[in-house]
Amino acid sequence: MVRDGASRGRTSVRTAVVWDYLRAALDGLGPAPLRVLDAGGGSGGFAVPLAQLGHHVTVVDPSPDSLAALERRVAEAGTTQQVRALQGDAADLPSVVGAGEFDVVLCHSVLEVVDDSLVALRAIAQALRPGGIASVLATNSTAAVVARVGAGRLGEAQRLLTSSTGSSGDGDPLARRFSLAELRDALTEAGLRPRTIHGVRIFADTVPPALLDVDPNAVAELLELERAAAELPDYLPIATQLHVLADRD
Ligand SMILES: C[S@@+](CC[C@H](N)C(=O)[O-])C[C@H]1O[C@@H](n2cnc3c(N)ncnc32)[C@H](O)[C@@H]1O
Repeated sequence: MVRDGASRGRTSVRTAVVWDYLRAALDGLGPAPLRVLDAGGGSGGFAVPLAQLGHHVTVVDPSPDSLAALERRVAEAGTTQQVRALQGDAADLPSVVGAGEFDVVLCHSVLEVVDDSLVALRAIAQALRPGGIASVLATNSTAAVVARVGAGRLGEAQRLLTSSTGSSGDGDPLARRFSLAELRDALTEAGLRPRTIHGVRIFADTVPPALLDVDPNAVAELLELERAAAELPDYLPIATQLHVLADRD
């Protein structure tokens, strides 16, 4: 039981900073309901809480299993009226949901797995209305190498270090990772202007798990650390993920 609590605490720390910035961006756009598109939204980890905040959320995901799980979660949360689930690929967003329809588009942990991250980002830009905001969460290539070394997977670290990031191509569906510059350049090329970039999971993946089991204050302290470091440029390279809020040009 204690371990479950610690595991939940760690999970909430992993997403808390994303929620801080996402909620502030939503609030800045105006009151609910906003029209939110969650590209590759999976089983609704973000979509359902957004619906619970009163927003109208469309999830586009190619996986029937994820969409089935989403529908169960939506029903359990009582948000059926606010969530629409569509099967589709991020690259095809304009034909699946139309162009210029959304105030906010989420693309969280999806650029790593799409066929072409630039094509997906262009489609996301097209789905946004002028003045809309994209929330993009992507794996940081520098931190990925450090994490492999920490786990003793030196060969993998070497492979990641020397492979070109931003493109997969080695058979590993999670091989695509982004440096800060690569992510910023890809967004800009797609017609999205980065407004804030911050680090997510700067410490959450390295804190000893046992600490969260035994110290009831550890989760709160860890969260405080994450929030304090999120926008400090010196800490961006060691963040497991980079979260960018970007305006549509
Ligand atoms: C790691 S999960 C992230 C789920 C969700 N965005 C989140 O942050 O909790 C990656 C998701 O991307 C979806 N996906 C895979 N290929 C995709 C594509 N070409 N276009 C859109 N989504 C895709 C998967 O089905 C999966 O739901």
